[in-house]
Amino acid sequence: MTGVEVKVEGLSKSFGRANIWSDVTLTLPPGEVSVLLGPSGTGKSVFLKSLIGLLKPEKGSIVIHDTDLVRCSESKLYELRKLFGVLFQDGALFGSMNLFDNIAFPLREHTKRSEAQVRDVVMEKMDLVGLKGDENKLPGEISGGMRKRAGLARALVLDPEIILFDEPDSGLDPVRTAYLNQLIIDLNAQTDSTFLIVTHDINTAQTVPDNIGMLYRKQLAMFGPREVLLTSDDPVVAQFLNGRRQGPIGMSEEKDTAQAAREMAEVTELDGLPPLKPQLEAAAGLPDRKAVHRRRERVMRMLPTLPPAAQAAIRQSYTDRRGAASQHGSSEPSWPLSSYELSETALRGRHGHTTAAPPGTRLR
Ligand SMILES: Nc1ncnc2c1ncn2[C@@H]1O[C@H](COP(=O)(O)OP(=O)(O)OP(=O)(O)O)[C@@H](O)[C@H]1O
Ligand SMILES: [Mg+2]
Repeated sequence: MTGVEVKVEGLSKSFGRANIWSDVTLTLPPGEVSVLLGPSGTGKSVFLKSLIGLLKPEKGSIVIHDTDLVRCSESKLYELRKLFGVLFQDGALFGSMNLFDNIAFPLREHTKRSEAQVRDVVMEKMDLVGLKGDENKLPGEISGGMRKRAGLARALVLDPEIILFDEPDSGLDPVRTAYLNQLIIDLNAQTDSTFLIVTHDINTAQTVPDNIGMLYRKQLAMFGPREVLLTSDDPVVAQFLNGRRQGPIGMSEEKDTAQAAREMAEVTELDGLPPLKPQLEAAAGLPDRKAVHRRRERVMRMLPTLPPAAQAAIRQSYTDRRGAASQHGSSEPSWPLSSYELSETALRGRHGHTTAAPPGTRLR
């Protein structure tokens, strides 16, 4: 199974007279992990809710399997929703239901499985997110991080082809965030489903996704492969992806232009191009992430259009990867450094895990 493509074109959303964002166009590549960034209040949660048809944008289209879910019938929308697994920002658990029933809810609502089958799936997902033994607790009796993980388990019970997580890492401690990030990558390796994750965590943004998008000033400032965004010289993107104070974004979102320009001049002199962090890899023993190959093919096609510094950094990162392979005694053939032709063999394989989470571990 390859994940589902989500094609968003010219999407605009307002509440009354307040425009949230306009003309958002992007395609979530099937089977890849994408992250959506942006200052607080720029409409990231509104975007996710629009993708599953909970909010109706006034303009534009969201096409999944040839159906525009902005304009389709209620019954068609209900069908399409079964493709999605969603974790809302607030967890959105039913307060009067225990965790078991909360997590079982989509299975009972959307499938005709027996209670024994429901139980098997719920217990498996609760184990996956480290909530085994907490089945009978009510949402009000557990910590914020546990509620988040219960929301994650519920989002996964239907084995969704499209997974939307709204800040899955907020309220989690750093160790659990590391496990969560590994879980996302491992799930993607196993299922090839399409992910869109909203996060404020810079490390997550730098190391997890195949693609990064950014909402800023009511627009989609950029959306593209991680290599391209992480080497971008766009001041907004660079500031956000490096968590810097200096740059066009301030506490109230937009700074005075003159001050921002002064700060940007300082940053360029001091820092230059940020180094490209390696991407988290699937745990040993799991299938190769096909998403990586597809993304790299895209990057290679885009490479000649990028600024020279970005091209150099991206080439360097691919070379480093190859270096890591030979250090680990891999028998992979090397590929000619001069050509940088996309070579499936050279890009295959996984080396040098970048995560604190040991292979095959569960989120606990
Ligand atoms: N149902 C609604 N009715 C009216 N306005 C809304 C509604 N939902 C969201 N908004 C407004 O839309 C804007 C964007 O909200 P949203 O929750 O999408 O921001 P966000 O980018 O997710 O922020 P954060 O990072 O803080 O979660 C806010 O100004 C919010 O008040
Ligand atoms: Mg939000």
